[in-house]
Amino acid sequence: MAKYLVTGAAGFIGSSLVRALLDRGDEVRGIDNFATGRRENLTEVLSRIDFRQIDILDLDSLREACEGVDYVLHQAAIPSVPKSVLDPIGSNRANVDGTVNVLVAARDAKVKRVVYAASSSAYGDTPTLPKYEAMTPNPISPYAVAKLASELYMTSFYRCYGLETVCLRYFNIFGPRQDPSSQYSGVLAKFSMQMLRGEQPTIFGDGQTSRDFTYIDNAVSANLLACSAPASECAGRVFNCATGRRITLNEVFEALKQLTGYTGSVKYAPERRGDIKHSLADISQAEKHLRYKVLVNFEDGLRRTVEWYTTQRQPVGA
Ligand code: UD1
Repeated sequence: MAKYLVTGAAGFIGSSLVRALLDRGDEVRGIDNFATGRRENLTEVLSRIDFRQIDILDLDSLREACEGVDYVLHQAAIPSVPKSVLDPIGSNRANVDGTVNVLVAARDAKVKRVVYAASSSAYGDTPTLPKYEAMTPNPISPYAVAKLASELYMTSFYRCYGLETVCLRYFNIFGPRQDPSSQYSGVLAKFSMQMLRGEQPTIFGDGQTSRDFTYIDNAVSANLLACSAPASECAGRVFNCATGRRITLNEVFEALKQLTGYTGSVKYAPERRGDIKHSLADISQAEKHLRYKVLVNFEDGLRRTVEWYTTQRQPVGA
């Protein structure tokens, strides 16, 4: 049994990690400032973890949170491309300054390894598909720049201080508990809830935009593997966390029509600023070095996700 600190524990991905760790019998400490996380995401597990309401910009509290911890899963962030376009300073503070604080606290507490929620947005709009880790990054939005800067800080802490770090570049993670209620919500969460309610979804662009949509269980598994893989295979490195398949927004709409029973049409609007057109991952490095495997494909993941939103008696954000 190891002790884990999950930052952003009340968020969609953080709260899923908390549950997976508890299921394995690990000891969990969770921190969140509730900027985007929700207490309800932890409801039935809250009594089983050491939860602290802490902002990662508060270094002293972070130091205390890192005491006695073996592994840090750093998920806390302001995870939005459009929000970062509106507020690059806020994005940088949470997504870069916050990460450096986590690294300093983890280093000084002699944590064994830090696994970081990096982002596929680091690749930007390079025409090459699939995206592989050795490609030159080309971030477009302030969010993407911040996530990439944090990756570099991770690697720097491995090189300079020997703190083992692993970066997982998430490709559009989706699943139960993803917040569908904000204008910045991930497209699958937003569309699922809108279409279940009979509301018309809006596709930004022509619908040919594609993403490597990755069900949450795959991301959880990647995090656990990134903790257990030998340092020689993964320390100081970056891995794509995805499925290796891309789905267009038009295909998303059609699939959700089947699953939600929505009979209306979709609206098309201009593309969002900072958006990239296509995203698809090469996952061979993660397969090779982390023994990562896709556990749940897009169709099964989307079905599980819609089932979950359907069971929400009081829909999130309603
Ligand atoms: C990006 C990053 C991802 C990051 C995430 C955080 C890429 C490839 N991915 O996701 O790594 O974790 O930000 O937010 O850069 N859309 C609609 N209608 C809507 C909402 C969205 O058409 O109502 C479109 C968007 O314009 C975009 C696509 O759906 O083209 C996906 O959007 P979203 O789910 O917000 O994620 P990304 O911006 O791709």
